[in-house]
Amino acid sequence: MDKLEAKNRIAELVQLLNKYGHEYYVLDQPSVPDAEYDQKMQELQRLEAKFPALVSTASPTQRVGGEPLDKFQKVEHHVPMLSLGNAFNEADLRAFDRRVTQLAAEPVVYICELKIDGLAIALTYENGTFVRGSTRGDGRVGEDITSNLRTIRSIPLTIQEKRSIEVRGEAFMPHHSFLALNKGREEKGEMVFANPRNAAAGSLRQLDPKVAASRNLDIFLFGYGKWEADSLPSHSERLKYLAALGFKINPEWKRCTTIDEVIEYVSYWSTERPNLSYEIDGIVIKVDDLQQQEKLGFTAKNPRWAIAYKFPATEAVTKLRTIELSVGRTGVVTPTAILDPVQIAGSTVQRASLHNEDLIKEMDIRIGDTVVLKKAGDIIPKVVRVIEEKRTGDEVEFSMPKQCPSCNSELAHLEDEVALRCLNPNCPAQLKEGLIHFVSRDAMNIDGLGEKVIEQLFQAKLIKTIADLYRLKKEELLKLDRMGEKSVQNILNAIEASKSNSLEKLLFGLGIRHIGAKAAQTLAAHFHTMDELCEATYEDFIAIDEIGEKMADSIVQFFSEEKVIELLQHLSTMDVNMTYLGPTQSQMTAIFSNQTIVLTGKMESFTRSEAKKLVEANGGSVTSSVSKNTDIVIAGEAAGSKYKKAQELNIPIWDEQKFKEAIES
Ligand code: IVH
Repeated sequence: MDKLEAKNRIAELVQLLNKYGHEYYVLDQPSVPDAEYDQKMQELQRLEAKFPALVSTASPTQRVGGEPLDKFQKVEHHVPMLSLGNAFNEADLRAFDRRVTQLAAEPVVYICELKIDGLAIALTYENGTFVRGSTRGDGRVGEDITSNLRTIRSIPLTIQEKRSIEVRGEAFMPHHSFLALNKGREEKGEMVFANPRNAAAGSLRQLDPKVAASRNLDIFLFGYGKWEADSLPSHSERLKYLAALGFKINPEWKRCTTIDEVIEYVSYWSTERPNLSYEIDGIVIKVDDLQQQEKLGFTAKNPRWAIAYKFPATEAVTKLRTIELSVGRTGVVTPTAILDPVQIAGSTVQRASLHNEDLIKEMDIRIGDTVVLKKAGDIIPKVVRVIEEKRTGDEVEFSMPKQCPSCNSELAHLEDEVALRCLNPNCPAQLKEGLIHFVSRDAMNIDGLGEKVIEQLFQAKLIKTIADLYRLKKEELLKLDRMGEKSVQNILNAIEASKSNSLEKLLFGLGIRHIGAKAAQTLAAHFHTMDELCEATYEDFIAIDEIGEKMADSIVQFFSEEKVIELLQHLSTMDVNMTYLGPTQSQMTAIFSNQTIVLTGKMESFTRSEAKKLVEANGGSVTSSVSKNTDIVIAGEAAGSKYKKAQELNIPIWDEQKFKEAIES
């Protein structure tokens, strides 16, 4: 291909890929399968590698993390980024309406929008191309975070018209990204983010854009800074125009002609809020007509034509009775607050992770303290503060033990980790957690062997290592409590079936540090057999795109251990498959990936909307009625007709315990 042909093809591919990206990330309506997108992207990457001079800033290949910066440049906002006045109740909203109608001296129409809880952002386009993105800063001067914002797929690199405009909006981290990020950080012994807003802000303030690229951020646009004169008469018309240019607009905005309608919208979203896949902290109410907006003008700090209604915080007060310690699969010792049961946002909370000792010291949390609890992201309960005035003097300070609560070996901090770890590879708690991980869905997927049964087998000293699982005998299992002929046979069948799993499941199940399901899939697809993997060197691993230095180190270290080689030999003699059986990427994704789930009955640990969120965070969708298209029915207590229908249609029915186990795995 000569340079001219390449130039034309590159332009064509950039245009097509940006269109596909818009359909996928902005409209949520992809028109082509992922494979076609990937194939065109690879073709573009090949062509750009061959003709580097033809790489344009509008190319989708330019999204993923350029070179790290030394510091962020300052950016002046020519139109200041103001904030809004607040309303906290109905009376405040009615007072706002009275002020507005009096000043406007004519009837007004309001636009209500969700107040997205993220980070205020300004995006500048010159001649239709994205050139700069910045934070709000102090409202007059912000920071240039263009390279980080480029990694957000829903930000168009070019827009539909060659205009020069500045648009404003809120960058945020959706719940599923937040949960996945914190889960990974906790496993690695890193500090977890308190809420999606902090996580979004933390991601966009990183000097290395690769971090932001890995964080799955998103954005909604709702405002404008510099706006070339046009004839649009209202905010709602501008919103529609922003969507037509290719920007992502929150679809839930509503036109309200009276303050009563506004109040109804506020009340609707106060209850529906937990069903959104992102965090909102209120409702923004704006006068729609732009001439009226101009007439109303600004106070020193805020526009008079808009107000932010803030939701009351979802907090509760309770007593911290004790602090329990648990040892995870990787040896991290995690303290958990055991609380007097209390209701927050519709469910009962009795436990809250305290994450690590630094956090306990920082907040000065003592046993017996009265604490304020909050659901971070409305999902995970969290201690936010101690009410010191309630102290009686009987509270007891807490220190992490020096020894492992399970095996008594010395605990240590690895490198500069905040987490304390037990380094004993034979620690029973770690072995048990390792076994729970090994049988879990994304790993060897051994049905019938949940956390409880593993615990039972462990207590009965029937298993200690992974290899022991494959040596279990029917007679031994039958002797255990609550184990009948049928359940024992099911367990043995499931163990037998797991022997033919593809290599990546075994690899993930072995629990190598830093190797998640995705990396295990990459490794299995690359090396094909366990033997090849064992013989590979650090350089072989690092040469693979998705494998970083930390992972490579960890794999090499893992396979250099005699105990590991012994275990693999045992497994091999027991006919456990050690070969890659093909591309099962889809099986390696979320637990409920592409599955339709119906929730019915009352659960003990989750409200309906929390359960829905968890299903969605794990790749599934929730519908309200049972049909032949339903994949699983999750039934709590007092499940009625949906339960019966699921039985009639032979649809798998899960109880709350199984749902919990699946999610935890
Ligand atoms: S309008 C003059 N609309 O909330 C300011 N703001 O104090 C106009 N926010 O930091 C802002 N969702 O970034 C507007 N739908 C929405 C919003 C929204 C979130 C943020 C905004 C600002 C704060 C307002």
